[in-house]
Amino acid sequence: MGKDVIIACDFSGRDEVLAFLDKFTGRKPFVKIGMELFYAAGPDIVREIKARGHKIFLDLKLHDIPNTVKKSMAVLSKLDVDMTNLHAAGASAMMKAAIEGLTRPDGTRPILIAVTQLTSTSEEAMREELLIEKSMPETVMHYAKNAAASGLDGVVCSPLEAKVVHDSCGKDFVTVTPGIRFADSEVGDQVRVMTPAKAKEIGSDYIVVGRPVTAAEDPVAAYLRCVEEFVG
Ligand code: C5P
Repeated sequence: MGKDVIIACDFSGRDEVLAFLDKFTGRKPFVKIGMELFYAAGPDIVREIKARGHKIFLDLKLHDIPNTVKKSMAVLSKLDVDMTNLHAAGASAMMKAAIEGLTRPDGTRPILIAVTQLTSTSEEAMREELLIEKSMPETVMHYAKNAAASGLDGVVCSPLEAKVVHDSCGKDFVTVTPGIRFADSEVGDQVRVMTPAKAKEIGSDYIVVGRPVTAAEDPVAAYLRCVEEFVG
């Protein structure tokens, strides 16, 4: 898998995201479009950004019955995104149906990764509200293995977990890791953070970087700094 930096384009509308992307006149970054922008601007924003030459990670975290997920994934596949995701909690029938839906007639499909447990879920909430008695690391690794066994390509995880995910799911199982900060930048609301250089060392395949680039005084310079540190 090619290592790359993905910019989390957490903007609320079309004008904001396009004004941001206009700054990138050279190398076109791989971008992540999440629910906020997708629900605000619709599938056209995906087509428009794709037409500008960007690769797209469509972060919609699908979780529904297998048939619904299969049909929805077929729609996303036609948008020609490069990567998309779902909740591993939907279980293997849903994950396998998602792959069927995503696969194009020529056999190609976007990279499909799983969310294991959201980082906003505490072990206490897992135990008391979801009735999951196992520890967070055990649960996360079990979900990652289920995703691998269902044919998915990887998981979203903390860069701190990239090595253990590779050790148990294989070196080709993709790790997409948010929570990235430069050594000298604001941490914000992220708790467990890592620099692009350290994420590279630990073996992340893709880093997802939001505010250190989007809120930078010079976003292009910040992006190129990430690429320099992570890809080399
Ligand atoms: O601005 P920042 O670099 O913190 O943005 C990180 C991006 O990665 C956001 O879009 C956030 O929603 C996403 N993300 C995350 N942690 C996860 C999963 C996704 O920060 N566990």
